[in-house]
Amino acid sequence: MYAKKITIDDIKNMKVLLRADFNVPMQDGVIQDLARIKHVAPTIEFLKKAGSKIILASHWGKPSGYEEKLSLKYLIPAIADIYNINVVFVDDCLKANASEIIDAASPDDLILLENLRFYREEENCNDYFAKKIASLADFYINDAFSTSHRNHASICAIPKFLPHAFGLAFMNEWRMLDYFFHNAPAPRMSIVGGSKLSTKINLLKNLVKKVNKLALGGGIAGAFLAYYGNDSLKMFRHEEYRNDMMEILGNAQEYGCELILPVDFSALIHKHDYDDRTIIYSGNDKTSVFDIGPESVELFRKHIRESATVLWNGPLGLFEKTPFDFGTMSVAQEIATRSREGKLTSIIGGGDTAFAMSKFGIDQDLTYKSTSGGAFLTYLEGNSLPGITAMENPMTLVN
Ligand code: 3PG
Repeated sequence: MYAKKITIDDIKNMKVLLRADFNVPMQDGVIQDLARIKHVAPTIEFLKKAGSKIILASHWGKPSGYEEKLSLKYLIPAIADIYNINVVFVDDCLKANASEIIDAASPDDLILLENLRFYREEENCNDYFAKKIASLADFYINDAFSTSHRNHASICAIPKFLPHAFGLAFMNEWRMLDYFFHNAPAPRMSIVGGSKLSTKINLLKNLVKKVNKLALGGGIAGAFLAYYGNDSLKMFRHEEYRNDMMEILGNAQEYGCELILPVDFSALIHKHDYDDRTIIYSGNDKTSVFDIGPESVELFRKHIRESATVLWNGPLGLFEKTPFDFGTMSVAQEIATRSREGKLTSIIGGGDTAFAMSKFGIDQDLTYKSTSGGAFLTYLEGNSLPGITAMENPMTLVN
């Protein structure tokens, strides 16, 4: 598949367009999580050693046209700080002076293009737009696995116009997910949570055929329990997915996948005089279920201890709010401990799940934490990513 190995010598002094994913959460002018900016560090280091001029390109948010608050200029201080480098900003990559700014910059600088989604041609995967951006560089690297489920110009069209390679972080993530499906030690367990069953149906359909154990939390678990006839969880019922759930349950039997469902919940009781949490075995009209309960936590922990590999996507409850972070945090801690002891390979991904792990301070214990959301899901659903398919004859970076 890889036409040629690219060494530092090959890429020496080239202008390299590096597609990153700097789609970071920002609140009141403060970046909440720098992981995506740090993510491309190995590729930046590789290119720096080669003396390449690095042109960073990314989207941020979902702007419709120019939106001042989503200008990538606001990320400059963070980028400059993390990489200890001067950042040169190109505020319009289509203007004639863009190439002049790039030529005038030193290889010791990092060049940053303005938010690609300010141009509607980006999302339309416009070839003309892609060619214009490609003309600014000699080589293209996609290091944005997390955006590669999008058929956008900077992901799928630019590789038509420049020799190209996947970045080191991209390859690392791709290998890790492939490893989970093909080589990771058994028993393999998947934990799938989150509130919306609709977003996880295809994931469950694929995972149930690939793993030995599948544990469900969040609203997803509620939907399955309601399907089984638990009337008190009817708030989670999804009649429109009845057939899909039937298929998943049928496949679990056929493929020998053990389905693990919560046995108790933590809920808020609605009363006028007080708000409190209580542990319940099932809900009713006067309760709102927000987390799995302690018996379920023990059940999940037991299955984690019996597993050699765990892949987790989707929180088990409302982890942002104490005490409903109990389920997600306890399960995360079990995974962290087992991983630290070298007894478990742990792969965790999805925006909320990744954020929860950072919040609990266990990132460094995990075998791999993906910064991807939609792309992680798309790949685990068994689909190829447009950003992978678009790279014909990619070269491979070797340190
Ligand atoms: C993400 O946050 O998952 C990626 O940056 C892609 O963003 P998008 O969902 O806005 O395309």
